[in-house]
Amino acid sequence: MHEVLSDWDGENALMSYDARTGSHLFIALHSRRLGPAAGGTRLRSYPSPADALRDATLLARAMTYKMAVAGLPMGGGKSVLDVPGKLSPEDRRHLLGRHADNLETLNGSYSTGPDVGTTSDDMDILHEHTEHAFGRSLARGGSGSSAPDTAVGVFNGITAAVAHLNSTPDLHGIRVLVQGCGAVGEPLVGMLVESGATVTVSDVVPERVDTLMTKYGVSSVDPSIIDLDCDVYAPCALGQVISAQTVPTLRCRIVAGAANNVLVDAADGELLQEAGILYAPDFVINAGGAVHLIGYERLSWTDAQVAAGLRGIGTTLAEVFRDADAHGVSTERAAELLAEARLAAGPQPTE
Ligand code: NAI
Ligand code: PHE
Repeated sequence: MHEVLSDWDGENALMSYDARTGSHLFIALHSRRLGPAAGGTRLRSYPSPADALRDATLLARAMTYKMAVAGLPMGGGKSVLDVPGKLSPEDRRHLLGRHADNLETLNGSYSTGPDVGTTSDDMDILHEHTEHAFGRSLARGGSGSSAPDTAVGVFNGITAAVAHLNSTPDLHGIRVLVQGCGAVGEPLVGMLVESGATVTVSDVVPERVDTLMTKYGVSSVDPSIIDLDCDVYAPCALGQVISAQTVPTLRCRIVAGAANNVLVDAADGELLQEAGILYAPDFVINAGGAVHLIGYERLSWTDAQVAAGLRGIGTTLAEVFRDADAHGVSTERAAELLAEARLAAGPQPTE
C-alpha cells in the first residue's frame, strides 16, 4: 500500500475495511485544483487490496485530466469497493451505507457517481445517506445513466479520428471492433451501424453478443481478440489493454473507445505513435459521462448544452491530433499537455 501512495501525486486517500462483507473501501482524491473532486465508484474484486488502491489512484488522476480537458469546473477522484465476490442485496446495501458514511466525512470535497459494477440504483442507495452522489435514477431526481451520453462522446471521437486520417468524417465501410457490449458499448454499436460502419463485437457474456448480432446484424469475435484487421479498435470493457506486448500485434489504424486507463503505461502512447496507430486518449474521448452528470446535476445545463458538450469531445480530439502532429509528440502527451495547461491556469468562469 505504501509504495502505491508514494508513487502517486494525489491529495489524499481514504481507506477502510468492512468486516461484515470482507470488503476494502477506498476513496482516492487526486486534485481539487479546478473545483470539488468527482469520479465514479467501481465495485469489483481485485487480486489484493493494494491492486484496488492502485486502480483507485490511477483512475482518480485520469478524472482530474478528464475534467480539465472537458472544461468542467471539477477536480478528480475515484472510489473503489474491493469485494470478495458477489454480495447479497442486503450486504451490498450495507457496504454502500459504509461508503456513503466515508463520502460524508469528505464533506463535499469529493462526490461520486456510477462506474464499472455500480448503477443508478446504487447511487439511489448512497443518496439515502449522503448528498454527494451523482447519477441517481430519473425517478429519484437524478439524471439517470451516463452511459448513453458516454457512447455519444465516443462516437463523436471515433468520427474525429476517422476524419483526421481520411480527411472525411464518413463512416461508411469503416470497420470497427467494439470490445465490450455493456451500457456504453451497446448504444455505440447502434450509432456506428446507423452511420454505415461495419461492426464486429465481443463480450465475455455471450448473451450480450447474441443480442447485438440479432438487433444489428453485426459479427462477433472471441473477447480475447484485439488484433483483428480493422480500422478502429474501440475498447469498451476494462482498461489496460494497450501495452508493450499488445501494440506490435495490433492491425487497426485507430484506437478509440470508452474504457478508462486503456494504456498500461503512459509511454505506450509513444509505442502506438511509432506503430502509426492514431490513439484517442481515453480521458478525452470518454468524458461524455462526466459532461452528462456534471452538466445536468451540477451546472443545471439544458439538453442542448449537454449535446454541445458532447460535440466538443470530437472538436477537442481533433485539436489534440493536430497538436500531436505539429509538435511531434504522441496524442497521449498532447492531451496531457492540454490538461496540464488548464490545471496551471486554474479555475475559469463557467457559462
Ligand atoms: P458495463 O459493465 O456496462 O459494460 C462492460 C462490458 O464489458 C460488459 O458487457 C462486460 O461483460 C464486458 N467485458 C468485461 N470484460 C471483457 C473482456 N475482457 N472482453 C470483452 N468484454 C468484456 O460498463 P460500461 O458502463 O459500458 O463501461 C465500459 C467502460 O467504459 C468501462 O471501462 C468504464 O470505466 C468506461 N466508462 C464508462 C462511462 C459510463 O458513463 N458508463 C464513462 C466513462 C468511461
Ligand atoms: N465513471 C464515469 C467516468 O469515468 C462517469 C462519472 C463521471 C462518474 C464523473 C462520476 C463523475 O467518467
